[in-house]
Amino acid sequence: MKVLILAAGLGKRMKSKYPKVVHKILGKPMINWVVDLGKKFGEVGVVVGHKAEIVKSYLPQDVKTYLQEPQLGTGHAVMCAKQFITAGDDILILYGDVPLLKPETIEKLAQTHARAKADVTVLTFIADDPTGYGRIVRNGEKIKIVEHKDANEEQLKIKEVNSGIYVFSGKFLLENLDKLSNNNAQGEYYLTDLVEMASKVETVLLDDPVQVSGVNDRVQLAQLESVAKERILKELMLSGVTVVDPASTFVGPDVKIGIDTIIHPFTILEGNITIGEDCEIGPYTRIKDSTIGNNVKIMRSEVEGAIIENNVSVGPFARLREGTVLKEKVKIGNFVETKKSVIGKNSKAQHLTYLGDATIGEDVNIGAGTITCNYDGYKKYPTSIGDGAFIGSNSSLVAPVKIGKGAIVGAGSVITEDVPDDALALGRARQVIKENWAKMKREAMENANHKE
Ligand code: UD1
Ligand code: CA
Repeated sequence: MKVLILAAGLGKRMKSKYPKVVHKILGKPMINWVVDLGKKFGEVGVVVGHKAEIVKSYLPQDVKTYLQEPQLGTGHAVMCAKQFITAGDDILILYGDVPLLKPETIEKLAQTHARAKADVTVLTFIADDPTGYGRIVRNGEKIKIVEHKDANEEQLKIKEVNSGIYVFSGKFLLENLDKLSNNNAQGEYYLTDLVEMASKVETVLLDDPVQVSGVNDRVQLAQLESVAKERILKELMLSGVTVVDPASTFVGPDVKIGIDTIIHPFTILEGNITIGEDCEIGPYTRIKDSTIGNNVKIMRSEVEGAIIENNVSVGPFARLREGTVLKEKVKIGNFVETKKSVIGKNSKAQHLTYLGDATIGEDVNIGAGTITCNYDGYKKYPTSIGDGAFIGSNSSLVAPVKIGKGAIVGAGSVITEDVPDDALALGRARQVIKENWAKMKREAMENANHKE
């Protein structure tokens, strides 16, 4: 099967500078929900039109795009992708603004289509309020779809409507697409007119219409977000993950979580994430595109583009940025920021630290207030810290610089030169003591006051 996604429409009611289909649900653009669904079934093509360049920038490399300009209706959209259609394949039509269709529904549609050797199989549903939808008009075996604006009084009463999702035989499409006309109430080329031209039409009635709900405005966007969220959290809970407060938890569709992991309230998990077993995530935590092992604790923190191994603890109030790798048993504490840094097994940075472009060995202790000065205003430079080193509090490590294995850096040092293994480095002003100085100052001030 091949999958053709229609995404050329305008989406006026979104009141947006951006095309409708790039608006996100649970952190994932709508069009990518549909593309990923389509990819489960075969090669994917997308018809783009309105703000085509922006939509294209969201699509993976292996998806073909077809430009529809101007947009003259759903039938015209498919005509624009004629090169994508092959006589030997079935063509599944999806909409870029209908993100919550389930793979099971497509399977059922495709099976019904194949079994009946149909020209077209239409996914339909019963609408409480069918306004705006194409009506499924049955006359014995004959089926046609009549658009709302073209329907007569009798047809308007029909509650079975067209979802806009179909499987077509490629051969039937190629032979009949050019026969479509725009001689109708909207002056559009209706894809739905093909149904009347077909000699074998099947329908599959969907009993869960939310799957084919489209997004036309931001109210519907939020409604579908809440449906998607409930669906994903339910699946996670039934698979062995504890979600303490589903209402305040947001988990995207590409997140995998192991059993006995607990997700605390106010947690947002976006993008591609794998989390192992027995972890505690949250409260108040946002994680994006990261891989997390087993028995990891992340509290009140921001994590993006990080790889975190087993038994690590992070936070509260940590920020792990792109390229952070935390090996086993690392401890990252409050107000610690890391970027493009690998931190070795058992090492700790517990307080008020910035580690950027750093490679840190095992069993290293990074004291409170340590900063890797990795940027001179022009370029970034690396810092490396050997196994077992101890960095005293409030030290500045001016990169590029190497701290040897087992070395100690005295608190408050500014380190500008490499430190050999097992050495002590002090880079600070020597302390001066002036005996009784404070007392003499006090007395002098008091005498001056008496004279006034
Ligand atoms: C269409 C169906 C209608 C069905 C309804 C379900 C037709 C003629 N009518 O209605 O029977 O009940 O969907 O929602 O097909 N698009 C393009 N290019 C165009 C026009 C539309 O790519 O020129 C895309 C839109 O971006 C959207 C989808 O096709 O993703 C459906 O378009 P929309 O205008 O919402 O559907 P209708 O034509 O109103
Ligand atoms: Ca329309």
